[in-house]
Amino acid sequence: MRAALYRQHGGPDVIEIATVPMPQAGPGQVLVKIEAASVTPLDWKLRAGLLAAHFTLDFPKIPGRDGAGTVIACGEGVPGFRPGDRVAVMAPPTSQQGTYAEAIAADARLTVPIPGALSTRDAAALVNAGLSALIAVERTAQVQPGQRVLVQGGAGAVGGLMVQLCAALGAEVTATCHSRNRDYVTGLGAHRAIAYDAPFPQGLPPQDVVFDLMGGAVHDACYPLLAKGGHLVWLTAAPITDRGAAFGVRVSRAMIADDAEVVARVLALAAEGTLRAQIAETLPLDGAAEAQRRLAAGEVSRGRVLLVP
Ligand SMILES: NC(=O)c1ccc[n+]([C@@H]2O[C@H](COP(=O)([O-])OP(=O)(O)OC[C@H]3O[C@@H](n4cnc5c(N)ncnc54)[C@H](OP(=O)(O)O)[C@@H]3O)[C@@H](O)[C@H]2O)c1
Repeated sequence: MRAALYRQHGGPDVIEIATVPMPQAGPGQVLVKIEAASVTPLDWKLRAGLLAAHFTLDFPKIPGRDGAGTVIACGEGVPGFRPGDRVAVMAPPTSQQGTYAEAIAADARLTVPIPGALSTRDAAALVNAGLSALIAVERTAQVQPGQRVLVQGGAGAVGGLMVQLCAALGAEVTATCHSRNRDYVTGLGAHRAIAYDAPFPQGLPPQDVVFDLMGGAVHDACYPLLAKGGHLVWLTAAPITDRGAAFGVRVSRAMIADDAEVVARVLALAAEGTLRAQIAETLPLDGAAEAQRRLAAGEVSRGRVLLVP
């Protein structure tokens, strides 16, 4: 089969398109024909070696944290799936087999049926972004109806789903984004969109919850926007300085771990129309290096780039 892979850490140009043996479904695994893989920030950070202190890779590495497709075969001990089922899959960061390939032998425990009303491509765009958004909103922040919530990075793949989830929960949502994306984030359900490329407006009411998806200077700017006793929830790869005590607010990191039940809930919310999948662009597998380059350069907006093998 064809796959994108790299044999060492480096820039996007270490990614090549190669022909590799078709994987087999071992015990507890499902062999899935990938119809779309999403390109996530973790994919390029792993390739660049930025996370080498946390994850040791075996080369050659096929990138890709998530994707969706159709079951081709099931290994022993996989009662829940049959060939022909449409499924979403998660691939652990250190797995040699990622989703930028024509097929993957995925762990059945990290494989989720796609509801009939949802397209396979929409499911692919929702897996890791939806998992991250839902854990942060429902488990870490426990957003409640009527709360004032600010999402820093509301036009991104995770931030856009946070905006949608918080609005659906009945929160009053404000989101930051580039000025060209203001209508986009209000279209996702934000009550107010603030352009990060313009002076920050005066008079934003104190926020009960702020989600920081950016880190750095954006993280520092979150503290004065919170009400006393408010909650700052962050999920970035970059370290932060916790200034919660100085501002009288709680600071929590959203701990994101692969979880089939959470992904099933995300896909169900999308199938019923509560969440809308955000797809920035669709590229062939040969576009893997270019997709990662664009994501790392901050050139991707309004959702995931999908690779279609
Ligand atoms: N395990 C975890 O902890 C975990 C899981 C998932 C994601 N994350 C992290 O969450 C972050 C977002 O992920 P993602 O997949 O949603 O990335 P993404 O789709 O690339 O989104 C990034 C967004 O950041 C926005 N942005 C850039 N500078 C900004 C600023 N100064 N203020 C506000 N927004 C700004 C951009 O908005 P415009 O498009 O409007 O320019 C862009 O849409 C990443 O840092 C990622 O590493 C962590």
